[in-house]
Amino acid sequence: MDNTSPLCVNHAVTTDQKKNFYDNLIATGTIEVEIGFGDGDYLISRARTYPERTFFGIEHKPSLIAGVSKKAASLNVDNIRFFQSCAKDAFNDLFTSCSISRVYALFPDPWPKRKHIKYRLFSSSYLRLLNNRLVPEGEALIVTDSSDYGRWIVKQTPDTGFEVECSMVPPQFNTRFERKWIVQGYHDFFQILLKKRDHIET
Ligand SMILES: C[S@@+](CC[C@H](N)C(=O)[O-])C[C@H]1O[C@@H](n2cnc3c(N)ncnc32)[C@H](O)[C@@H]1O
Repeated sequence: MDNTSPLCVNHAVTTDQKKNFYDNLIATGTIEVEIGFGDGDYLISRARTYPERTFFGIEHKPSLIAGVSKKAASLNVDNIRFFQSCAKDAFNDLFTSCSISRVYALFPDPWPKRKHIKYRLFSSSYLRLLNNRLVPEGEALIVTDSSDYGRWIVKQTPDTGFEVECSMVPPQFNTRFERKWIVQGYHDFFQILLKKRDHIET
């Protein structure tokens, strides 16, 4: 990945560089964040639909950051900033309290084996961090093919400051994993919409 690009920042950069990167965006208004954007099609389409907003794409695979930032540039989409990092570090280090309007994670890794549950991203402590970073009335949207993971996430939500809405939804995001599941015959996915009601201090 080319870390010299003004659109990309790596977790290894200094705190000052991260702060400058972020401060440059503060004046830009509504901020949306996609966690684990994969091939980036949804992130790019949303950024094209809302050119006045600033989008952050967080991915821990450098090859995906490189590919998607190139794709965005070739389409003249200039309102996405890419951050190569684990989403836990990104929310801890990059974003400030009450700064993000909307967060989404589409088909996050479900870590289905019992011994791997510790790797699941949307634990209670992570949801509390997301809450802190969201603006009042901000929202986090999680869609998963794994109802086991979906139910586990719902169990993490008490005391995270969110009102929780769960539903089964048809395919609508056109991401690589959504397309993969459709081919395998799945037409319903577990959606969790978290609406910030109380602010959580972290
Ligand atoms: C199952 S894929 C889904 C990709 C895409 N959202 C889709 O629907 O096609 C999960 C993605 O999340 C990324 N990812 C997993 N854990 C992550 C983490 N802790 N921080 C940032 N990205 C992560 C993976 O690299 C992968 O691209």
